[in-house]
Amino acid sequence: MQEMSNDFKPFSKKIAIFYGGKRSKHLRLVQKAAEKMGVELDLISYNKVGFRINDELRITNYEWKKYEVIFFRTTGKHWEEVNLVVDWVKRNNPKCKIVDPLVLKGRPSDACKAWQMVELTRHGIEVPRTIYGSLWTLYEFSRKKSNFEKAGFSFPVVLKGSSGDRGINVFKADNLAQLERLVRQLRRSEVEEGRRYMLQEFIPNNGDYRILVLGGKVLGAVRRTSASSDEFRNNFSVGGKVEVVMVPESIKKLAIRATKICGLMVAGVDLVCRGGDWHRPVIWEINKGPQFWGFMQATGIDVPAEIVKFLVSL
Ligand SMILES: Nc1ncnc2c1ncn2[C@@H]1O[C@H](COP(=O)(O)OP(=O)(O)O)[C@@H](O)[C@H]1O
Ligand SMILES: [Mg+2]
Repeated sequence: MQEMSNDFKPFSKKIAIFYGGKRSKHLRLVQKAAEKMGVELDLISYNKVGFRINDELRITNYEWKKYEVIFFRTTGKHWEEVNLVVDWVKRNNPKCKIVDPLVLKGRPSDACKAWQMVELTRHGIEVPRTIYGSLWTLYEFSRKKSNFEKAGFSFPVVLKGSSGDRGINVFKADNLAQLERLVRQLRRSEVEEGRRYMLQEFIPNNGDYRILVLGGKVLGAVRRTSASSDEFRNNFSVGGKVEVVMVPESIKKLAIRATKICGLMVAGVDLVCRGGDWHRPVIWEINKGPQFWGFMQATGIDVPAEIVKFLVSL
Protein backbone atom coordinates (compact mmCIF):
# COMPACT_ATOMS: atom_id res chain seq x y z
CA MET A 1 0.00 0.00 0.00
CA GLN A 2 1.41 3.39 -0.96
CA GLU A 3 1.26 6.45 1.24
CA MET A 4 -2.10 8.04 0.65
CA SER A 5 -0.83 11.59 0.85
CA ASN A 6 1.87 11.20 -1.82
CA ASP A 7 -0.46 9.23 -3.96
CA PHE A 8 -3.25 11.74 -3.88
CA LYS A 9 -3.98 13.58 -7.10
CA PRO A 10 -7.12 15.68 -7.28
CA PHE A 11 -9.34 15.20 -10.35
CA SER A 12 -7.72 11.86 -11.00
CA LYS A 13 -10.63 9.55 -10.28
CA LYS A 14 -14.32 9.30 -10.93
CA ILE A 15 -16.02 7.63 -8.05
CA ALA A 16 -19.50 6.21 -7.44
CA ILE A 17 -20.85 5.31 -4.03
CA PHE A 18 -23.94 3.11 -3.97
CA TYR A 19 -26.30 3.20 -1.05
CA GLY A 20 -29.69 1.89 0.04
CA GLY A 21 -32.35 3.73 2.00
CA LYS A 22 -32.04 7.42 2.73
CA ARG A 23 -29.09 9.56 1.76
CA SER A 24 -27.52 9.79 5.21
CA LYS A 25 -25.66 12.63 6.82
CA HIS A 26 -22.52 10.49 6.49
CA LEU A 27 -22.93 10.19 2.75
CA ARG A 28 -23.56 13.90 2.33
CA LEU A 29 -20.38 14.65 4.26
CA VAL A 30 -18.38 12.36 2.00
CA GLN A 31 -19.82 14.11 -1.05
CA LYS A 32 -18.98 17.53 0.37
CA ALA A 33 -15.43 16.41 1.11
CA ALA A 34 -15.06 15.24 -2.48
CA GLU A 35 -16.37 18.55 -3.82
CA LYS A 36 -13.87 20.44 -1.71
CA MET A 37 -11.04 18.31 -3.07
CA GLY A 38 -12.18 18.59 -6.65
CA VAL A 39 -12.93 14.89 -6.93
CA GLU A 40 -15.88 13.78 -9.02
CA LEU A 41 -18.00 11.62 -6.77
CA ASP A 42 -21.63 10.56 -7.28
CA LEU A 43 -23.90 9.13 -4.62
CA ILE A 44 -26.16 6.61 -6.30
CA SER A 45 -29.23 5.13 -4.71
CA TYR A 46 -30.06 1.52 -5.58
CA ASN A 47 -33.44 2.91 -6.58
CA LYS A 48 -31.76 4.53 -9.59
CA VAL A 49 -30.44 1.28 -11.00
CA GLY A 50 -32.37 -0.25 -13.87
CA PHE A 51 -31.72 -1.96 -17.15
CA ARG A 52 -33.31 -3.90 -19.92
CA ILE A 53 -31.93 -7.39 -20.19
CA ASN A 54 -29.49 -7.55 -23.12
CA ASP A 55 -29.24 -3.80 -23.12
CA GLU A 56 -26.92 -1.33 -21.50
CA LEU A 57 -27.08 -0.95 -17.75
CA ARG A 58 -28.55 2.43 -16.94
CA ILE A 59 -28.34 4.40 -13.81
CA THR A 60 -30.85 7.23 -13.96
CA ASN A 61 -29.09 10.56 -14.54
CA TYR A 62 -25.62 9.04 -14.29
CA GLU A 63 -23.12 8.29 -16.97
CA TRP A 64 -22.18 5.14 -15.14
CA LYS A 65 -19.48 3.89 -17.52
CA LYS A 66 -17.00 6.58 -16.57
CA TYR A 67 -16.52 5.36 -13.01
CA GLU A 68 -13.07 4.13 -12.06
CA VAL A 69 -13.89 3.28 -8.46
CA ILE A 70 -17.18 1.96 -7.14
CA PHE A 71 -17.83 1.70 -3.43
CA PHE A 72 -20.92 -0.16 -2.27
CA ARG A 73 -21.27 1.51 1.10
CA THR A 74 -24.36 -0.46 1.98
CA THR A 75 -25.43 -3.80 0.59
CA GLY A 76 -28.13 -4.89 3.11
CA LYS A 77 -31.31 -5.69 1.22
CA HIS A 78 -29.77 -4.84 -2.15
CA TRP A 79 -27.60 -7.82 -2.99
CA GLU A 80 -29.48 -8.49 -6.19
CA GLU A 81 -28.68 -5.02 -7.55
CA VAL A 82 -25.13 -5.25 -6.19
CA ASN A 83 -24.46 -8.52 -7.99
CA LEU A 84 -26.06 -7.37 -11.24
CA VAL A 85 -24.04 -4.15 -11.23
CA VAL A 86 -20.81 -5.95 -10.31
CA ASP A 87 -21.26 -8.50 -13.11
CA TRP A 88 -21.94 -5.73 -15.58
CA VAL A 89 -18.94 -3.73 -14.48
CA LYS A 90 -16.66 -6.77 -14.63
CA ARG A 91 -17.71 -7.44 -18.23
CA ASN A 92 -17.81 -3.90 -19.53
CA ASN A 93 -15.44 -1.88 -17.42
CA PRO A 94 -12.91 -4.39 -16.10
CA LYS A 95 -10.44 -1.72 -15.00
CA CYS A 96 -12.94 -0.26 -12.55
CA LYS A 97 -11.96 -0.93 -8.92
CA ILE A 98 -14.68 -2.33 -6.70
CA VAL A 99 -14.64 -1.85 -2.93
CA ASP A 100 -14.73 -4.24 -0.97
CA PRO A 101 -13.47 -7.78 -1.82
CA LEU A 102 -16.53 -9.07 0.01
CA VAL A 103 -18.73 -7.47 -2.63
CA LEU A 104 -16.82 -9.18 -5.44
CA LYS A 105 -17.47 -12.55 -3.85
CA GLY A 106 -21.16 -11.79 -3.93
CA ARG A 107 -22.16 -13.89 -0.92
CA PRO A 108 -24.61 -11.90 1.20
CA SER A 109 -24.03 -14.16 4.18
CA ASP A 110 -20.40 -12.99 4.31
CA ALA A 111 -21.70 -9.61 5.42
CA CYS A 112 -23.31 -11.21 8.48
CA LYS A 113 -21.89 -11.62 11.96
CA ALA A 114 -22.11 -15.42 12.15
CA TRP A 115 -19.82 -15.81 9.13
CA GLN A 116 -17.38 -13.32 10.66
CA MET A 117 -17.37 -15.28 13.95
CA VAL A 118 -16.48 -18.47 12.05
CA GLU A 119 -13.78 -16.89 9.87
CA LEU A 120 -12.11 -14.96 12.69
CA THR A 121 -12.05 -18.07 14.88
CA ARG A 122 -10.59 -20.10 12.02
CA HIS A 123 -7.76 -17.55 11.84
CA GLY A 124 -7.06 -17.75 15.56
CA ILE A 125 -8.75 -14.46 16.47
CA GLU A 126 -10.92 -14.56 19.54
CA VAL A 127 -14.64 -13.77 19.38
CA PRO A 128 -17.28 -14.27 22.09
CA ARG A 129 -18.27 -17.90 22.63
CA THR A 130 -21.13 -18.19 20.15
CA ILE A 131 -23.88 -20.52 19.05
CA TYR A 132 -25.76 -19.88 15.83
CA GLY A 133 -29.18 -21.21 14.95
CA SER A 134 -32.92 -20.67 14.88
CA LEU A 135 -34.29 -19.03 18.02
CA TRP A 136 -35.96 -22.30 18.86
CA THR A 137 -32.65 -24.19 18.67
CA LEU A 138 -30.94 -21.57 20.79
CA TYR A 139 -33.65 -21.73 23.42
CA GLU A 140 -33.67 -25.54 23.49
CA PHE A 141 -29.92 -25.52 23.86
CA SER A 142 -30.10 -23.14 26.84
CA ARG A 143 -32.91 -25.06 28.49
CA LYS A 144 -30.84 -28.22 28.81
CA LYS A 145 -28.60 -27.21 31.63
CA SER A 146 -26.03 -29.94 30.98
CA ASN A 147 -25.56 -28.87 27.32
CA PHE A 148 -25.42 -25.25 28.21
CA GLU A 149 -22.85 -25.63 30.95
CA LYS A 150 -20.76 -28.19 29.10
CA ALA A 151 -20.41 -25.69 26.26
CA GLY A 152 -19.10 -23.15 28.77
CA PHE A 153 -22.22 -20.98 28.96
CA SER A 154 -23.87 -19.39 31.96
CA PHE A 155 -26.35 -16.54 32.43
CA PRO A 156 -26.43 -13.73 31.54
CA VAL A 157 -26.24 -14.36 27.80
CA VAL A 158 -26.49 -12.11 24.78
CA LEU A 159 -28.93 -12.79 21.97
CA LYS A 160 -27.79 -11.01 18.83
CA GLY A 161 -29.06 -10.77 15.28
CA SER A 162 -26.56 -12.11 12.77
CA SER A 163 -27.27 -9.02 10.70
CA GLY A 164 -28.05 -5.53 11.90
CA ASP A 165 -26.06 -2.71 13.44
CA ARG A 166 -26.18 0.22 15.85
CA GLY A 167 -27.08 -2.05 18.74
CA ILE A 168 -30.60 -2.50 17.37
CA ASN A 169 -30.54 -6.29 17.40
CA VAL A 170 -28.52 -6.99 20.53
CA PHE A 171 -30.27 -8.18 23.70
CA LYS A 172 -29.28 -9.50 27.09
CA ALA A 173 -31.04 -12.21 29.08
CA ASP A 174 -30.22 -12.63 32.76
CA ASN A 175 -31.97 -15.97 33.10
CA LEU A 176 -33.89 -18.63 31.18
CA ALA A 177 -37.26 -16.94 31.71
CA GLN A 178 -35.95 -13.71 30.15
CA LEU A 179 -34.44 -15.66 27.29
CA GLU A 180 -37.76 -17.37 26.65
CA ARG A 181 -39.54 -13.99 26.60
CA LEU A 182 -36.98 -12.60 24.14
CA VAL A 183 -37.26 -15.64 21.91
CA ARG A 184 -41.05 -15.26 21.80
CA GLN A 185 -40.72 -11.56 20.95
CA LEU A 186 -38.14 -12.09 18.23
CA ARG A 187 -39.75 -15.10 16.58
CA ARG A 188 -41.77 -12.75 14.38
CA SER A 189 -38.68 -11.08 12.92
CA GLU A 190 -37.25 -14.52 12.32
CA VAL A 191 -40.28 -15.68 10.39
CA GLU A 192 -41.26 -12.44 8.65
CA GLU A 193 -37.88 -10.86 7.96
CA GLY A 194 -35.81 -14.02 7.73
CA ARG A 195 -33.52 -12.84 10.53
CA ARG A 196 -31.13 -15.22 12.19
CA TYR A 197 -29.75 -14.98 15.71
CA MET A 198 -26.77 -16.04 17.77
CA LEU A 199 -26.44 -16.81 21.42
CA GLN A 200 -23.27 -15.42 23.00
CA GLU A 201 -21.56 -15.47 26.32
CA PHE A 202 -21.96 -12.11 28.01
CA ILE A 203 -18.55 -10.44 28.36
CA PRO A 204 -18.63 -7.90 31.20
CA ASN A 205 -16.84 -4.67 30.36
CA ASN A 206 -16.51 -1.01 31.26
CA GLY A 207 -16.41 0.05 27.66
CA ASP A 208 -15.21 -1.17 24.30
CA TYR A 209 -13.35 0.12 21.24
CA ARG A 210 -14.16 1.17 17.72
CA ILE A 211 -11.20 1.20 15.38
CA LEU A 212 -11.54 2.70 11.94
CA VAL A 213 -9.58 0.89 9.24
CA LEU A 214 -9.07 2.29 5.76
CA GLY A 215 -7.18 0.32 3.15
CA GLY A 216 -4.91 -1.61 5.52
CA LYS A 217 -4.26 1.34 7.84
CA VAL A 218 -5.74 2.43 11.13
CA LEU A 219 -7.22 5.90 10.92
CA GLY A 220 -7.86 6.15 14.64
CA ALA A 221 -9.64 4.62 17.60
CA VAL A 222 -12.26 5.57 20.14
CA ARG A 223 -13.38 4.09 23.41
CA ARG A 224 -17.11 3.80 23.96
CA THR A 225 -18.95 3.46 27.24
CA SER A 226 -22.63 2.78 27.74
CA ALA A 227 -24.98 5.60 28.64
CA SER A 228 -26.01 4.20 32.04
CA SER A 229 -25.56 1.27 34.37
CA ASP A 230 -28.72 -0.41 33.09
CA GLU A 231 -27.62 -0.25 29.46
CA PHE A 232 -25.01 -2.86 28.48
CA ARG A 233 -24.58 -1.74 24.85
CA ASN A 234 -21.82 0.78 24.25
CA ASN A 235 -23.01 1.92 20.82
CA PHE A 236 -22.94 5.65 20.14
CA SER A 237 -26.39 5.21 18.55
CA VAL A 238 -27.91 4.13 21.87
CA GLY A 239 -26.36 7.00 23.79
CA GLY A 240 -22.88 5.61 24.40
CA LYS A 241 -20.15 8.08 25.28
CA VAL A 242 -17.27 8.23 22.81
CA GLU A 243 -13.75 9.45 23.58
CA VAL A 244 -10.52 9.38 21.65
CA VAL A 245 -8.04 6.74 22.78
CA MET A 246 -4.56 5.50 21.92
CA VAL A 247 -4.51 1.77 21.31
CA PRO A 248 -1.38 -0.38 21.30
CA GLU A 249 0.22 -1.49 18.05
CA SER A 250 -0.92 -5.08 18.68
CA ILE A 251 -4.56 -3.98 18.66
CA LYS A 252 -4.07 -1.98 15.47
CA LYS A 253 -2.51 -4.99 13.77
CA LEU A 254 -5.36 -7.17 14.96
CA ALA A 255 -7.96 -4.74 13.60
CA ILE A 256 -6.22 -4.61 10.21
CA ARG A 257 -5.93 -8.39 10.05
CA ALA A 258 -9.53 -8.97 11.08
CA THR A 259 -10.73 -6.46 8.47
CA LYS A 260 -8.86 -8.32 5.73
CA ILE A 261 -10.12 -11.70 6.87
CA CYS A 262 -13.66 -10.38 6.64
CA GLY A 263 -13.09 -9.19 3.08
CA LEU A 264 -13.29 -5.48 3.82
CA MET A 265 -11.18 -2.39 3.14
CA VAL A 266 -13.27 0.31 4.77
CA ALA A 267 -14.36 -0.94 8.18
CA GLY A 268 -15.19 -0.12 11.75
CA VAL A 269 -13.80 -2.83 14.00
CA ASP A 270 -15.65 -3.26 17.31
CA LEU A 271 -13.75 -5.04 20.04
CA VAL A 272 -13.57 -5.46 23.79
CA CYS A 273 -10.72 -6.48 26.07
CA ARG A 274 -11.41 -9.16 28.67
CA GLY A 275 -10.81 -7.73 32.10
CA GLY A 276 -9.72 -4.50 30.42
CA ASP A 277 -6.49 -6.23 29.39
CA TRP A 278 -5.02 -5.18 25.99
CA HIS A 279 -3.57 -8.67 25.70
CA ARG A 280 -7.02 -10.28 25.73
CA PRO A 281 -8.93 -8.67 22.86
CA VAL A 282 -12.20 -10.16 21.66
CA ILE A 283 -13.82 -8.98 18.45
CA TRP A 284 -17.53 -8.10 18.52
CA GLU A 285 -17.85 -7.49 14.80
CA ILE A 286 -16.39 -5.80 11.73
CA ASN A 287 -18.71 -3.15 10.30
CA LYS A 288 -18.87 -2.61 6.60
CA GLY A 289 -19.40 1.03 5.62
CA PRO A 290 -19.21 2.20 9.25
CA GLN A 291 -20.95 5.18 10.79
CA PHE A 292 -18.36 7.74 11.80
CA TRP A 293 -20.21 10.66 13.38
CA GLY A 294 -19.28 9.94 17.00
CA PHE A 295 -15.78 8.92 15.94
CA MET A 296 -15.26 12.19 14.12
CA GLN A 297 -16.47 14.31 17.02
CA ALA A 298 -14.21 12.50 19.46
CA THR A 299 -11.05 12.32 17.36
CA GLY A 300 -11.34 15.46 15.24
CA ILE A 301 -10.27 13.35 12.27
CA ASP A 302 -11.88 14.40 9.00
CA VAL A 303 -13.20 10.94 8.16
CA PRO A 304 -15.11 11.89 4.99
CA ALA A 305 -11.95 13.48 3.53
CA GLU A 306 -9.93 10.39 4.45
CA ILE A 307 -12.49 8.13 2.79
CA VAL A 308 -12.34 10.19 -0.40
CA LYS A 309 -8.52 10.17 -0.33
CA PHE A 310 -8.57 6.42 0.11
CA LEU A 311 -10.98 5.87 -2.79
CA VAL A 312 -8.89 8.13 -5.00
CA SER A 313 -5.74 6.24 -4.05
CA LEU A 314 -7.10 2.95 -5.40
N1 LIG B 1 -21.26 -10.92 23.92
C1 LIG B 1 -21.42 -9.70 24.42
N2 LIG B 1 -21.23 -9.45 25.76
C2 LIG B 1 -21.42 -8.21 26.26
N3 LIG B 1 -21.77 -7.13 25.52
C3 LIG B 1 -21.97 -7.31 24.20
C4 LIG B 1 -21.80 -8.58 23.58
N4 LIG B 1 -22.03 -8.44 22.27
C5 LIG B 1 -22.33 -7.15 22.06
N5 LIG B 1 -22.30 -6.45 23.22
C6 LIG B 1 -22.59 -5.01 23.38
O1 LIG B 1 -23.48 -4.63 22.38
C7 LIG B 1 -22.86 -3.68 21.49
C8 LIG B 1 -23.28 -3.96 20.06
O2 LIG B 1 -22.81 -5.23 19.65
P1 LIG B 1 -22.26 -5.50 18.21
O3 LIG B 1 -21.95 -6.94 18.09
O4 LIG B 1 -21.17 -4.54 17.89
O5 LIG B 1 -23.56 -5.22 17.29
P2 LIG B 1 -24.04 -3.92 16.48
O6 LIG B 1 -23.83 -4.30 15.07
O7 LIG B 1 -25.47 -3.74 16.80
O8 LIG B 1 -23.17 -2.76 16.90
C9 LIG B 1 -21.36 -3.83 21.73
O9 LIG B 1 -20.69 -2.63 21.42
C10 LIG B 1 -21.33 -4.18 23.20
O10 LIG B 1 -21.44 -3.01 23.99
MG1 LIG C 1 -21.09 -2.73 16.83
